[in-house]
Amino acid sequence: MSERVASELRTGELAGRVALVTGGAGGIGQGIASDLAAAGARVAVCDLDGAAAQQVAAALGDGHGGFAMNVTDSVSAAAAVAAVTAALGPVDILVNNAGIDVIEPFVDSTEDTWRRIVEVNYLGTVIVSRAVLDSMTERGWGRIINISSDAGRVGSSGEVVYSGTKGAVIAFAKALAREVATKGVTVNVAAPGRPTPRCSTRWPS
Ligand SMILES: NC(=O)c1ccc[n+]([C@@H]2O[C@H](COP(=O)([O-])OP(=O)(O)OC[C@H]3O[C@@H](n4cnc5c(N)ncnc54)[C@H](O)[C@@H]3O)[C@@H](O)[C@H]2O)c1
Repeated sequence: MSERVASELRTGELAGRVALVTGGAGGIGQGIASDLAAAGARVAVCDLDGAAAQQVAAALGDGHGGFAMNVTDSVSAAAAVAAVTAALGPVDILVNNAGIDVIEPFVDSTEDTWRRIVEVNYLGTVIVSRAVLDSMTERGWGRIINISSDAGRVGSSGEVVYSGTKGAVIAFAKALAREVATKGVTVNVAAPGRPTPRCSTRWPS
């Protein structure tokens, strides 16, 4: 997270902003949703598990919402963004947090696994960013924050394709930031390091 974004969280400049968190029904995404709500944002908790997203949003209090969204499906992403906009207002802040991982040696992994990890971690970030961007540039303000990983900076054995997707998320953010910087939209990356207990196999059905 950039110093500027961290400063906005500290100073309460997020009051009234609408923040959409993908994969917000658990783990790091749930924590991010909670922090954004504490900083004054109206939070849209979006997840493949829509019921869990609604439960998390309800626990945040009034003024938040939970929505079903599959980040790998541009139709689902657009529908969820439309539902968020109708319920809470246009999205000011997007946190691309949804991610999956399977820890195993690369030579034991299958093409199906590679494709699913790339679809959620990289294409999901691309798809949801695209779904919110026009509204952000039209309004001249937006914040996109991608959750990468230390694996995307230095590589992680047992997470070879995952590491590639997390590196791609970093490069995507750098390039998109150059395109939209003059339109009031910033794009940043957070790359968590130390694994949390939920960092084991993540493979939603
Ligand atoms: N946990 C760690 O130690 C760690 C370390 C570095 C980076 N990260 C990154 O942080 C992010 C969150 O990780 P986590 O450990 O909290 O994961 P998690 O498995 O606890 O939570 C991920 C959430 O994403 C949702 N999700 C999965 N596929 C989805 C899809 N297609 N559409 C919408 N939602 C989907 C899941 O339902 C789940 O609620 C991921 O991008 C991960 O790569 C985690």
